[in-house]
Amino acid sequence: MSDIPQERRVLTAIPGPKSAELQARRVAAVAAGVGSTLPVFTARAGGGIIEDVDGNRLIDFGSGIAVTSVGASAEAVVRRASAQLADFTHTCFMVTPYEGYVEVCEQLAELTPGDHAKKSALFNSGAEAVENAVKIARAYTKRTAVVVFDHGYHGRTNLTMALTSKNMPYKQGFGPFAPEVYRVPVAYGYRWPTGAENAGAEASAQAIDEITKQIGAENVAAIIIEPVLGEGGFIEPAKGFLPAIAQFAEDNGIVFVADEIQSGFCRTGQWFACEDEGIVPDLITTAKGIAGGLPLSAVTGRAEIMDAAHAGGLGGTYGGNPVACAGALGAIETMRELDLNGKAKRIEEIMKGRLAEMRSKLPNGDIIGDIRGRGAMIAIELVKSGTKDPDAAAAGALAKACHAEGLLVLTCGTYGNVLRFLPPLVIGEDLLNEGLDIIEQAFATI
Ligand SMILES: Cc1ncc(COP(=O)(O)O)c(C=O)c1O
Repeated sequence: MSDIPQERRVLTAIPGPKSAELQARRVAAVAAGVGSTLPVFTARAGGGIIEDVDGNRLIDFGSGIAVTSVGASAEAVVRRASAQLADFTHTCFMVTPYEGYVEVCEQLAELTPGDHAKKSALFNSGAEAVENAVKIARAYTKRTAVVVFDHGYHGRTNLTMALTSKNMPYKQGFGPFAPEVYRVPVAYGYRWPTGAENAGAEASAQAIDEITKQIGAENVAAIIIEPVLGEGGFIEPAKGFLPAIAQFAEDNGIVFVADEIQSGFCRTGQWFACEDEGIVPDLITTAKGIAGGLPLSAVTGRAEIMDAAHAGGLGGTYGGNPVACAGALGAIETMRELDLNGKAKRIEEIMKGRLAEMRSKLPNGDIIGDIRGRGAMIAIELVKSGTKDPDAAAAGALAKACHAEGLLVLTCGTYGNVLRFLPPLVIGEDLLNEGLDIIEQAFATI
C-alpha cells in the first residue's frame, strides 16, 4: 500500500481550489454525460483514504463503486501489476496467450460456488461480462428470451441497458433497446405490500407465473439476477426468493446467472453473495473487486455451458489484459492473506450496530426506513417521517453534508433515496467509526 497516512484531513473547502481549477478544465474537455459524485480530483489513494490535489484526505466509503476492496494501492496488486508491466503490456490472448489469464480462470473455478467442472472467459467491464453471459446462455440453450428483475442493474451498453430496470439516468433517450428482455418482480422486503415475511414466497410465485404465462419457460435462455441488488438500492431479495428462482431455472433448462459484479469477491463477507442461501449458479459474472482497481471482468460457469459458444465467438482485443490479470492475482492473494471475508463481516457488525443506534437516538429516527445489506455492502433507505415515501432529497443532503466533512459516500436506489456504504475491506476500524460519526452529525444538518 502507498504510505498515505490513514487519517482524515480537511485543509480547504471540499472541493478545494486546485480541484476547482481542474473541474473547469474538465467541464471544457469532458463530455457532460460522464458525471462525478464529487468533483474532488485524486492525487493518491490507499487503505481507507483518498487524498486530493489540495492535500485533503477523505475517508473512502465508496471504493470507486465497490472496486478497491483491497484498497486502491494494495501491495500485492502494485507488485504483480508492475512486474507484468515491465515484462509486456499486451499480446492479445486471442493472438498469443499468456499464463496470467489461465491462472485467473483457475482461481475463478476454485473460488466460485459448486465443485463441478468450470471454465471462464475474461473481459474488461462488468457490462461486457453480462453481455457475454447472455451470448453463452443463448448458444447453449438455443433459446432467445432473457429474464431480469425489477430494480436490477447490469450496465450501460445496449443489451445491458435493456436488462437494467431504471430509466433515468441509464436509459433515457438512448433507445431503442435490445429485444427479448423481460422484467419480473423481485422480493424487495421493505416495500413488499404484504410484508417482508411474505416477500420471498409471493414474489417468486409472481415472477414464475409471469415467466410461464407471458414468455413460456421453454423460450427462456437465461435468468439474470444480482444476489444483492446494487444500484437498485442494496436490496437483499427476501429469503427463499433466490432458491425458488434457481430451482425453477433448473427444472426448465434455463441458465441461472448470478451477476456478482458488485456483490462478489468478499464484499458481502463471503466470496460470493449467492453462497448465503447455498445457491450454485450455472454462470456467474464478476468484475469490480476482482482486480484491485484494474479493468477486468469474467464469466465463469459450468464447463459444458461455457463451451457452447463456437471458437472465435467470444473474446475481444483487450479481454483479460495481462496487467489486469496480474492485478487480479494480487487482489485474490490479498483477500486470502488478510481474510477480507472476516473483515467484511466485522464492518457489517460495526456499521449496522452504529446505524441502528443512530436511528434510535435521532428525534426523527424513523426517516431511516431500513438498514440493510451484508458485509461491507450496507445501506440506509431514507423515507419521509411516519411514512415509507422515498426521500431522495434527504439522501442527497446527507451525502453533501458528509462530503463537506471529508467523508465520501454514494447514493443509489430506484427512488434515489438510499445512502450506500462500500468502504474498502482494508479500512481501519478507527476510520470506519470516524466516518460513522460524520454520518451521525450529518443527520443534524437535514
Ligand atoms: C451488478 C452489476 N452488473 C453490471 C455492472 C456493470 O459494470 P461496468 O460498469 O463495469 O460495466 C455493474 C456496475 O455497477 C453492477 O453493479
